[in-house]
Amino acid sequence: MTMAICPGSFDPVTLGHMDIIQRATKLFDHVIVAVMVNPAKKTMFSVEERMELLKKCVADMPNVEVVGFRGLLAEYARERGITAIVKGLRAVSDFEYEFQMALTNKKLNHELETVFLTTQAQNMYLSSSIVKDIASFGGDISGFVPEPVLEDIRKRLYTGGTEK
Ligand code: PNS
Repeated sequence: MTMAICPGSFDPVTLGHMDIIQRATKLFDHVIVAVMVNPAKKTMFSVEERMELLKKCVADMPNVEVVGFRGLLAEYARERGITAIVKGLRAVSDFEYEFQMALTNKKLNHELETVFLTTQAQNMYLSSSIVKDIASFGGDISGFVPEPVLEDIRKRLYTGGTEK
């Protein structure tokens, strides 16, 4: 069975993420979506909340598993016998950061390859940060996030939920 891991902060999951996950399921038998901690980012949702949202979004994808953890991606992959990371690449601006992570993960776990899927044109500009920015000013984010996420984000932003 071929396995791949799609790691990210997913704060929150966007339609761009969903497109990459969906396409990864066509390439691999089993896809693990890993909600992880990026120390550089202050998140709106806790790891557990992000996992819950993702689980709702992939409910109709039988070969997708959602996990969450705080730790090294390379170590987790080794423990689970995963040899492929799948990531979306939006624009040149993503490249240096993604290249650095791919090389670092390879250094930490020599078996681990990173596979980049180019984003669809309509998602080129889309990011979790942009979604949160639009929502915080009352903008319409329905075209950017999956349906199950929409209500949670609105609730969070408009009822003054605590930031994590
Ligand atoms: O969606 P993001 O924030 O760009 O994803 C980055 C993420 C979470 C995949 C990255 O920060 C990560 O892998 N964090 C786990 C810790 C780790 O393994 N760090 C070394 C990676 S080079």
